[in-house]
Amino acid sequence: MPMQKNFSTYMATKENLFKTIKIKNLEVPGNIFLAPLAGFTDRAFRRVCKEKGASFTYTEMISSEAVYRGNDKTLTLAERASNEDIYGIQIFSGSTDSAAKSLEKLLPFKPDLIDLNCGCPVPKIVKSGAGSALMQEPEKIREIVKALTETTDLPITVKIRSGWTSETINYMKAAEMALEGGASLISIHPRTRAQFYSGKSDWSCIRKLKETFDVPIMGSGDLYTGEDARRMIEETGCDSVMFARGAIGNPFVFEEARAILSGDDDYQAPTEEEKVRMAFRQLAYAIEYNGEGKAVKEMRKHLCAYTKGITGGSAFRNKIVHGNSYDEYRDMFDEFMESLKGRWEDLPD
Ligand SMILES: Cc1cc2nc3c(=O)[nH]c(=O)nc-3n(C[C@H](O)[C@H](O)[C@H](O)COP(=O)(O)O)c2cc1C
Repeated sequence: MPMQKNFSTYMATKENLFKTIKIKNLEVPGNIFLAPLAGFTDRAFRRVCKEKGASFTYTEMISSEAVYRGNDKTLTLAERASNEDIYGIQIFSGSTDSAAKSLEKLLPFKPDLIDLNCGCPVPKIVKSGAGSALMQEPEKIREIVKALTETTDLPITVKIRSGWTSETINYMKAAEMALEGGASLISIHPRTRAQFYSGKSDWSCIRKLKETFDVPIMGSGDLYTGEDARRMIEETGCDSVMFARGAIGNPFVFEEARAILSGDDDYQAPTEEEKVRMAFRQLAYAIEYNGEGKAVKEMRKHLCAYTKGITGGSAFRNKIVHGNSYDEYRDMFDEFMESLKGRWEDLPD
């Protein structure tokens, strides 16, 4: 009887899916990670994700070439958020030389690990031989990882895709090369480069990596809820999961995933008010880190994401895109809160 089987599997495993993971000599106190997301995972966003229970956070990808050539603006991406007791810096690189040399500038930030991006599909990155271009040259992954492991004792982790196209699926080879170079964890977003972010991610790749290799394996792809995290761990056996688009505008997903993975039935989803408050909390952090002008511009996409699905959110979003200062946002926020209150009062008991 399938229903009974599912229920007993859940009962048997519900207590123990949330666990610490060991990456080389690094103990990470949980297995729910925030993925690197260019343009999104800045310090302000990582800070709210940590507050809501992300076990580990990565910077967005950083060009090792730019770092090594002394681009100070790029270097600011490597800074740690105030509550990140543990974090990783992700680099993208098309050459062993720039990858290793960039560490000279990045290690002073005291990251807990360095991650190599082998998945970015963006043409500009791929043309430089970095990101998912490395999936076409797995031996180069080995050489870059080797150059990194020869430069630092920190764990080096590698994030791959399933392949370049559906005809050239080679994630097993890419993982093998990364491990030959000395990588301590493989994470995989099992879409091909040709897919970019569309279609469904193929979780069977995660399972195959887990069945084959001894290092921790982390899965990424189509994780939007705590239940998705549970399903990924149960279906693939992966050691940890990595929320990406599912965390944008929803840092609460870490709390939810933690509750579900550890079998806590008491989790309460955030109210609309809590969502909007969290959005403004992130805005305040962004201003603290980046100054008001930059922060209000960069926060628009986040504020839009936070208010998705909230009644009245669409009118609110139309206003947000025209906001230019914290005070303007504050007024919109107060007005929106008032409208929410009115709506709640109108609701029958
Ligand atoms: C806007 C955006 C930016 C991303 N930036 C990065 C990045 O900097 N480094 C990286 O390894 N992956 C990056 N990714 C890929 C994600 O980390 C993740 O693997 C992918 O989105 C699949 O997970 P999802 O289907 O749950 O979103 C990015 C994805 C998106 C949508």
